Amino acid sequence: SILIVDFGSQVTQLIARRVREAGVYSEIAPFQSAVEAFERMRPKGIILSGGPASVLEADSPRIPDSILASGLPILGICYGQQALMHQLGGTVELGHSGEFGSAFIEIADRCALFDALWSEGERHQVWMSHGDRVTRLAPGFRPVAFSPGAPHAVIADDERRIYAMQFHPEVVHTPDGGKLIGNFARHVCGLAGDWTMAEFRATKIAEIRAQVGTSRVICGLSGGVDSSVAALLIHEAIGHQLTCVFVDHGLLRAGEAEQVVSLFRGHYNIPLVHVEAETLFMNGLAGITDPEAKRKFIGKTFIDVFEAEAKKIGGADFLAQGTLYPDVIESVSFTGGPSVTIKSHHNVGGLPDRMDMKLVEPLRELFKDEVRDLGRELGLPDVFVGRHPFPGPGLAIRIPGEVTKGRCDILRKADAIYLEEIRAAGLYDAIWQAFAVLLPVRSVGVMGDGRTYDYVLALRAVTSTDGMTAEAFSFPGDFLPRVATRIVNEVRGINRVTYDYTSKPPGTIEWE
Ligand code: XMP
Repeated sequence: SILIVDFGSQVTQLIARRVREAGVYSEIAPFQSAVEAFERMRPKGIILSGGPASVLEADSPRIPDSILASGLPILGICYGQQALMHQLGGTVELGHSGEFGSAFIEIADRCALFDALWSEGERHQVWMSHGDRVTRLAPGFRPVAFSPGAPHAVIADDERRIYAMQFHPEVVHTPDGGKLIGNFARHVCGLAGDWTMAEFRATKIAEIRAQVGTSRVICGLSGGVDSSVAALLIHEAIGHQLTCVFVDHGLLRAGEAEQVVSLFRGHYNIPLVHVEAETLFMNGLAGITDPEAKRKFIGKTFIDVFEAEAKKIGGADFLAQGTLYPDVIESVSFTGGPSVTIKSHHNVGGLPDRMDMKLVEPLRELFKDEVRDLGRELGLPDVFVGRHPFPGPGLAIRIPGEVTKGRCDILRKADAIYLEEIRAAGLYDAIWQAFAVLLPVRSVGVMGDGRTYDYVLALRAVTSTDGMTAEAFSFPGDFLPRVATRIVNEVRGINRVTYDYTSKPPGTIEWE
């Protein structure tokens, strides 16, 4: 495996992904706890991330001495390069202008990172983002690539197997970056590149069996890909010691509850408790219009219902959760200041404490796309594997104002038409999330010879890689008019359809 020491770059997670894409397992540890992670993992190589600090500041982060002295291969990226030079006897100076954005570097010499990829005299595109720069190399290093602004764009010490670069190989704007990282993992560290989902599946199954023994496990199923994959994997490990609980709050999309029940109970024969709690949720939501109040009510009620079911089932020591790696990675914090809560995301995070259960979290080491790969490996149907993210509070946060069963039913019909057309046009997988929002606004229309006075519907579709930022999706010209016509013709209660072009930021993906 490879350990990635995080110095606080915004894109450290991408390094881990590139290493894993090369078939090598990797984990990220903040520089403050890198030594513990190093001792636990016993990695075969180290990557040092970029970061916002300057090595010229007295209290800036350092590479732990034991890691530097370990004799293992090291790849330093941006701040990682500067820290290496600073600590190994080179000189780093304040950059007066800095370099940000696309740049071309020229290859001056061969080195293991360039194997079967880059040759002398070629020019290649990379992504630079740095202020300070290395002005004198530490003993043992030689420059192997340069640009007018960066004489030490890539440096190498083949003897010690330490390599470093001023640019960011992990971002897509460095087209060959993944291959550079792959060369480091395979050629420099000598790792085989055989980390696959088939192997992960086998290892996890053994781990789950060892952890759970003969105890019983309860898993909350939502119909989303994370909990579905977690449930399937655990079921494969321990069979009927697993019971799934599906709390159906009546705020799901059309046909979704039926799909979950028929797949898990029918197809996989996994014990599944389907709690039909629509009335409870609808009654409680009556009169609530504030988005945060909706989330709080739904979150709390969800936990109450789940807990009551778990008590009825009885005898389970373990709670399974589909926690993913991005939720687990400790982030490097320099300021420690509180960040503003934009939305309090509802999840079942409060459950284990309250229920005094131990956790089984088989997806803790995986990124979302790896969970999808694992789902495919486990034979989960494509409609589940490729499903767009769906918020825990469901349709409640897609109905600004009061949520009623009548409004949910109208929204479900319109949303189903929208998604059906998106799938028929072959656009579903190009979109991160697509959904309809039922506005508490009425407008005047004409249908046949009559006047209508009905709701306005907003359609939203965004592209994104992680939900943190998003762009409105551009549909082909005739798509939206066709969907709008179908919805107004087929869904009673809606007589006008609009499209939301706002990106995030400044908007958010959901309307509440
Ligand atoms: P926003 O609207 O904050 O959404 O741009 C970012 C991503 O998070 C999802 N989302 C939620 N997920 N509970 C969830 O489990 C919530 O309360 C919630 N609110 C937003 C949203 O669908 C998008 O994928």
